[in-house]
Amino acid sequence: MSEDISPLIVLNLKTYENATGKKAAIMANDLWEAAEVYGADLVVAAQATDINEIKRQVPELTVYAQHIDSYGYGAHTGHITAEAIIGAGASGTLLNHSEKKIDHGILAETIKVAQDRGLEVIACADSVLEAEQIADFGPNYIAVEPPELIGGDVSVTTRPQLIVDSVETVRKVDEGITVLVGAGVKTYEDVSKAMELKTDGVLLASGITKAEDPVEAFKRLIGR
Ligand code: G3P
Repeated sequence: MSEDISPLIVLNLKTYENATGKKAAIMANDLWEAAEVYGADLVVAAQATDINEIKRQVPELTVYAQHIDSYGYGAHTGHITAEAIIGAGASGTLLNHSEKKIDHGILAETIKVAQDRGLEVIACADSVLEAEQIADFGPNYIAVEPPELIGGDVSVTTRPQLIVDSVETVRKVDEGITVLVGAGVKTYEDVSKAMELKTDGVLLASGITKAEDPVEAFKRLIGR
């Protein structure tokens, strides 16, 4: 990877035990310190209930929610509002992750609600076709992740054609959308390959959250 290319690394903490509650804030802080030292571009996607504490401890880290709903203030029980995550300090959200799929009509509406309130949106797609469909909704980012590779040891970058097609397809619909890929990403080689194939970065989880030493895993991921 050339020196001037800085991949965006979006780390989804999911609901992993060592990345939940107090441990989420500790991991976020440790990774942010490493990102600062090495000049890496890091975003952490946290459970809604952990955003406030992460931002309290690491105010400069960019934190996204893992999901929000389209509802705003009012008589809506059990929903996560854009207003709530903004209040907690988030500046964006993942939407339509393979582990939290939403109907495309609702996705389009939620992207609009989020962006109207100033949130950035990473919309996830499980295929090139879905990436094309959701590009029309105008998210800031599209992250393409083959569901069958999520959480495993085979990286999405072993499917270069999928990546090339995703980038091409999304950019054909809207050149302004940033394209990420994810699933099974663990190494510097994976990240380099994703960049070589013209993505802007990666979305990952277990390569860091399940590592014995997440900071070391992060350093290896960014080639340090
Ligand atoms: O959101 C990231 C994700 O689904 C990929 O997970 O564990 O394969 O890096 P993982």
